[in-house]
Amino acid sequence: MTSKAFHHRGTEDTENLGDLRVSVVQKPARRFAGIELSLIRQINALATPLCVNLGIGEPNIEPDENLRKLAVDAAANGSWHYTPNPGTLSLRKLIAGDSGFEPNEVCVTAGTEEALFSIFQAYVDPGDEVLVPNPGFLAYATLARIAGATAVPYDLEPPQWRVDADALMKKITPKTKLIIVNSPSNPLGSVIDDGTLLTIANAGPLVVSDEVYSEIWYDAPPPSMLGLSDNVIVVGGMSKSHAMTGLRLGWAIAAEAVMKPIVTAHQYIATCASAFSQSLAEAILMRPAWNRAWLENVRAQFAKQREKALTAIARELEVDIPPPAGAFYAFVPVPACDTVTFAKTLATDAAVLVIPGVAFGSLGEGFIRISYAAKLDDISYGIGQIGRWLRAAGR
Ligand SMILES: Cc1ncc(COP(=O)(O)O)c(C=O)c1O
Repeated sequence: MTSKAFHHRGTEDTENLGDLRVSVVQKPARRFAGIELSLIRQINALATPLCVNLGIGEPNIEPDENLRKLAVDAAANGSWHYTPNPGTLSLRKLIAGDSGFEPNEVCVTAGTEEALFSIFQAYVDPGDEVLVPNPGFLAYATLARIAGATAVPYDLEPPQWRVDADALMKKITPKTKLIIVNSPSNPLGSVIDDGTLLTIANAGPLVVSDEVYSEIWYDAPPPSMLGLSDNVIVVGGMSKSHAMTGLRLGWAIAAEAVMKPIVTAHQYIATCASAFSQSLAEAILMRPAWNRAWLENVRAQFAKQREKALTAIARELEVDIPPPAGAFYAFVPVPACDTVTFAKTLATDAAVLVIPGVAFGSLGEGFIRISYAAKLDDISYGIGQIGRWLRAAGR
């Protein structure tokens, strides 16, 4: 391309016209106005090699020899071609399992995040309202904004972070298009009870139940919303259960009529999930005994890490929080302060990374999210560092 008028490099470019330097700034689409890299990414960017990272949102688990073998086999013998848009029939059958859902009611996606994006693109119009938990996973509100809708927070209250179903019902208006539910919760580690889930499933609007942490639980498996009503879309995936965050394998499950537009959106976003990741997921789900043992090991590891985190939090930060029932996060109150500055200071001065609670909504202010997806020594040392820093600051 020779014409300067068509000369582009990234989003901001400078054309040298003799002495005159004209800055040409390409404006992003209005739907992205004000949308930036998440606070989580900004805090993680402060990490130095010396930092203890308790800010991570992924399991500290590596594939064992067996899982690697399955992956090698999937790469060597699996297809490298496009799969059907919603995923291979064999994988969709395995994901549907004995849930009563048909394979055409399952769409395999590039991670849970893409399932969420597809659902928002398929169902949410400008002017709509989307009910999101506060505090909650920050992508929900952002996805609503990208779709031109308004995220309407419903409040969760410490220390149990229960969903008040009556209060949530009162937030429903004729504009409410989706209600987002996340159990076990990121960042809270809390789990929602059956009765509340049933009430929400029958509230009227479509419900998206994000169950990506469903396999990471402690005393009892968390109840699922799958099949609670025709309005429910369950999303999940293998990122957290199998430490496959980089392989991007997720899904959505919903009644056929609800699923149709989601598959259409997914087709234009991703075409299909990675054929390799689908082959690997299939190999895993075809081995239920191996998979059960894997998941039990994962849960046993997180149980030890949770114990370590709770002990250190009680001793070093002098707070008792209800033990998280699922996922691998502790949402911990800290002495009154601006927690963004606090988290940044901890990163630079105490060499420990945590996420400020306000990254998850206004009701997260006053809390930090400590991820205990870390080595036992790092958990005690990192939380110890926070305690030492607080004491040195006279808090
Ligand atoms: C609540 C929640 N939903 C969805 C996701 C996205 O998961 P995936 O890697 O499957 O896209 C995450 C990742 O942190 C999460 O915490």
